[in-house]
Amino acid sequence: MMMDSMFEVKSLTHDELPLDLLLIADPEEAAINVYRQRCQAYAALLQGKIVGALLVEIDNEGLRAELYNIAVYDEHQGKGFGGVLLDEALKMLAESGIRKVELGTGTFGYQLSFYQKHGFRVDSVVKNFFLDNYDEPIFEQGIQHKDMLRLVWRG
Ligand code: COA
Repeated sequence: MMMDSMFEVKSLTHDELPLDLLLIADPEEAAINVYRQRCQAYAALLQGKIVGALLVEIDNEGLRAELYNIAVYDEHQGKGFGGVLLDEALKMLAESGIRKVELGTGTFGYQLSFYQKHGFRVDSVVKNFFLDNYDEPIFEQGIQHKDMLRLVWRG
């Protein structure tokens, strides 16, 4: 969809998404290189240049998806591009039969508000996820991320 003539969201292949963009949402390069191969990819383009990326894995039945990564370059954040990217990807997924999209995120921060603003609801907590699965501690707003919230969107 066109937000204006300069901006569009497109479905493309995972290898067209730049690694430096995906690393903004997930510091684990090795993990990215594994899950990106199983994922469907969407990009937000501004004047033909990729400014945002979204990776989602669809299950075998084609009913459920897991959102692994959504990122917008720092200088373009907070302008609505990520929101349109997420809304458009959810719309395309719903049109292809996906009824449920899940993701894991931190227990605080603007990302949690962002997902809820776009229709996701908190489903459960995975205690110690960021302690058990990441090599380096993850701090935001001076607070260490320890537990993960599972969020669900239903189409
Ligand atoms: N710090 C604080 N707030 C921020 C922010 C930042 N760096 N970037 C965006 N926000 C806020 C915006 O003000 C906006 O809030 P509002 O709806 O109250 O106005 C909201 O978060 C984001 O909305 P939008 O502009 O549509 O999204 P975006 O283009 O910034 O994309 C992300 C959203 C999350 C993809 C993007 O901010 C990003 O890449 N963040 C870093 C990677 C990340 O954390 N990914 C998610 C992993 S769980």
